[in-house]
Amino acid sequence: MKKPENHILVIFGASGDLTYRKLIPAVYDLHKTNLLPDKFAVLGASRTELSDDKFREKMKDGIKKFSNYKEDEEKIINEFLKHLSYLPVDTDNSEDFNKLKDHLEKLDKDLGTNGNVIYYLSTPPSLYGIIPTLLGKVGLNNSSNGSWKKLIVEKPFGYDLQSAIELNKKLSKYFKEDQIYRIDHYLGKETVQNILVTRFSNGIFEPLFNRNYVHHVEITSVENDGIENRGGYYESSGALRDMVQNHLLQLTGLIAMEPPSSFDSNALRNEIVKVFQSLRPFNEKEILSNAIRGQYTSATVRGEKVAGYRDEKGVNPKSKTETYVALKFFIDNWRWGGVPFYIRTGKRLPTKVTEVVIHFKPTPHFLFSKQQANNSCNQLILRIQPDEGVLFKVGMKVPGQGFDIQTVNMDFHYSDLSNTYLPTAYERLIHDCMIGDSTLYQRVDAVEAAWKFVDPILNAWKNDENIPIYGYPAGTWGPEHADDLIEEKGITWRYPCKNLANDGIYCEL
Ligand code: BG6
Repeated sequence: MKKPENHILVIFGASGDLTYRKLIPAVYDLHKTNLLPDKFAVLGASRTELSDDKFREKMKDGIKKFSNYKEDEEKIINEFLKHLSYLPVDTDNSEDFNKLKDHLEKLDKDLGTNGNVIYYLSTPPSLYGIIPTLLGKVGLNNSSNGSWKKLIVEKPFGYDLQSAIELNKKLSKYFKEDQIYRIDHYLGKETVQNILVTRFSNGIFEPLFNRNYVHHVEITSVENDGIENRGGYYESSGALRDMVQNHLLQLTGLIAMEPPSSFDSNALRNEIVKVFQSLRPFNEKEILSNAIRGQYTSATVRGEKVAGYRDEKGVNPKSKTETYVALKFFIDNWRWGGVPFYIRTGKRLPTKVTEVVIHFKPTPHFLFSKQQANNSCNQLILRIQPDEGVLFKVGMKVPGQGFDIQTVNMDFHYSDLSNTYLPTAYERLIHDCMIGDSTLYQRVDAVEAAWKFVDPILNAWKNDENIPIYGYPAGTWGPEHADDLIEEKGITWRYPCKNLANDGIYCEL
């Protein structure tokens, strides 16, 4: 693994949850695996007044809870914490960016980081346009004299197509496209990258990934948690913006793309963009029947009363924000013409699971009795999380008289590989940015194409009173209407586990 050049990592939004739970634990794991440069510092920046020591203390706690930290690592963690410092920065006060400049110059001189800096925007999205502008105004964007400056922007990148275009305009005033790293942490997951390896390193799967052999594709990414303490953010986002526009469409891109000519960042991203550009746009009529939205209502899950979405902190008691989305759509190109893609995501479902299921077409002729009933037996299931792995379902003869067929599993679990350490998505992506590899970051055209697909649904849900939002009891698999998306007899969504709630009512909200 390549070691990055010496640099400083500035995290804006350093007092926030993402820094505490994901970013600093990931940087710590990079430290442990010796993947940080020799000369390196993290500067936390946010509005909150914090001393260096308080910041380090908080981050130590985060590392212990969320990194690959082991009990006997006190010395390693303390060593790592020496690289951390903190500076209060108020984005309402442009003078603070002059202070930041002085501070960075001093840090750079003391450490010898050659003027190289990564800025990580982990703030509320409303600041994504403001911070790069303020950095630019004081010259902190300049990649000059052989030094570099990079900018990582957290999702959501924009609120809809128009705002994404505007945000991009603001960023590009001071940062060039090759300095901007738009993160979608799903692309950093080992198992998401394994989609590419499964498809393009095996001669047996790729020839089958098309309309001739695939009946339909199902992508599920659901969670048992609710919205936690993120009511404010979630109310203005909803599941379509939070999960579909980015994570689920990225998974779709990797499943549906053509083989890239090389594993070069542009070659790969060109193919993903082509998929997004081939997504068949929804017209108004189709939205009603092909896009289902739901919102969780209160129910008892494993014996505990769980609040409904409208009772959560920061949520409007009459909210129409969706916490569940299921879509049926098509990719209009030669490879996938006519193959339906079904995707769903939701909060407060029975379990946390992300998986892709490729359902293959049945055989053209049923040679064995009972085969017909079993006609969807071939499925390739790429389990993204948890219990990461790959499952292949095939029909086999039941031993004994006659020719009865049973579906059996060929099952691979990453956990079966001894000593396998799966780096977290943030670990992978932060390191990629450090070494200047943007392959697993989103390019501007992909972000815009994804918004273009999602925008008509957002608009219809906002403006058309006649489109229902269904209430589903927490702990269930979402609105029953999502089943109707799959019209074919005998075919349903794959349910990795049962409903957990048997109280609460399904209703229209
Ligand atoms: C984030 C969303 O991008 O992804 C969250 O904002 C969601 O709402 C999370 O919970 C899911 O990520 P993961 O890696 O836990 O599947």
